[in-house]
Amino acid sequence: MIVTTAQLAKHAYGKYAVGAYNINNLEQTAGLFRGCIDSQAPFIIQLSKGARNYTDKRFLEGIIRAADEIYPEAIYAVHLDHGDEETCYDCIDSGFYSSVMIDASHHAFDENVAIVKRVVDRAHAKGLTVEAELGQLGGVEEDVVVDEGNACLTDPNQAVEFIQRTGCDSLAAAIGTSHGAFKFKGQQSLHFEVIKEIAEKVAAAGLPPIPIVMHGSSSVPQDEVRRINAAGGKIQDSCGVNEDEYLPAAKLGVTKINIDTDGRLVWTRVHREYFRDNPAQFDFRPPGKIFIDEYAKFIAHKNGKLGSAGQLSSLRAALSK
Ligand code: G3H
Ligand code: 13P
Ligand code: ZN
Repeated sequence: MIVTTAQLAKHAYGKYAVGAYNINNLEQTAGLFRGCIDSQAPFIIQLSKGARNYTDKRFLEGIIRAADEIYPEAIYAVHLDHGDEETCYDCIDSGFYSSVMIDASHHAFDENVAIVKRVVDRAHAKGLTVEAELGQLGGVEEDVVVDEGNACLTDPNQAVEFIQRTGCDSLAAAIGTSHGAFKFKGQQSLHFEVIKEIAEKVAAAGLPPIPIVMHGSSSVPQDEVRRINAAGGKIQDSCGVNEDEYLPAAKLGVTKINIDTDGRLVWTRVHREYFRDNPAQFDFRPPGKIFIDEYAKFIAHKNGKLGSAGQLSSLRAALSK
C-alpha cells in the first residue's frame, strides 16, 4: 500500500528511521519488498533521475505496481530522489509519487529558497510533500560534483530561515556524509550536534519539528569490498557511515535514511562471485535469483539497524485511526 512520506515520518519521528532505498530494476524491487516483509518494516522507494532514464520511467512504475499486488502487506512511499525542478513537476503531475526531493543546494541560499518555494507550492497543491537540501554533501549527486573541501555542513540558523521561507516538509541536512563508495579514509562519526541544534532552533522559533533526511548513509561494508576485490574487482579502500549510528541519529529526528551504494555492492559481489565460480555459465537468471535473496537479506539487516524492523503492525494501527 502506497502511503504518504509524511505519514511514515510522523510514525517514525524520534523513534526510528525509515530506510529509503534506490531502485532501478526488477530484481532490486523484488528483493526490497521481500526484505521489508521479512523484517516487517515500512520503507521508502526512491527513484532518481538516472533510474527513471535507465530504461523508461513507466517500467519502474509497472514493476512497483506488480510488487504491490504480490506483497499486499507492504506499506511504503514512492519518492523522487535528487530531483531538478522539471523532474519534480513531472513526478508531481504523474499522480504516482508520495513526495519529491528538490535538490537545489548547489545554488546560493536565496536561489535555493526561490526554487524550493516554487516546487513546494506545486507539490502541496497536489497533496505531495517536499524534501529540500541545505548544505553540501561531498561526492557526486546526479550531475553535481562536490569535492571534500567544498562540502559544508548545514548551518542550523540558516535552516530555520530556510524552512520558514520555503515551507519544505523535510530537510536533507549535511551532517558529514557523502554519496558513493568512497566516503572517509578512516571511520568517522556523524555530526550529531548539527541534528540536535537544528531541532533546538526549530523549536525555539515556534515551528513544528522538522523530519531530517540523511543522504549518503551507506556503510560500505569492508567484507563486501574484500569479496568483490577477491573476485576481480578493484574497489579502493574506504569507510562508510557506522550502521550503529543510524538509530542514535533517528532518536534526534532523522526519519529518512538514504541507502543506495551498499545495495550496488551486494549486486556486484553476487555477480562477480557467480561468474568467477561458474565461468561457463551464460544464463543470467541463476545469479539474478541469488541477488534477490541476498538483497532481501541485506534490506532486512539494514531495517534492523534503522529500528524500522517490526514497526509494520504499529504503523498499520496508527494509519487506520
Ligand atoms: O544519491 C544518489 C543516488 O545514489 C542515486 O544514484 O543518480 O546514480 O541513480 P543515481
Ligand atoms: P549512498 O551513496 O551512501 O548509498 O547514499 C545514497 C543517497 O543518498 C541517495 O539519495
Ligand atoms: Zn542522496
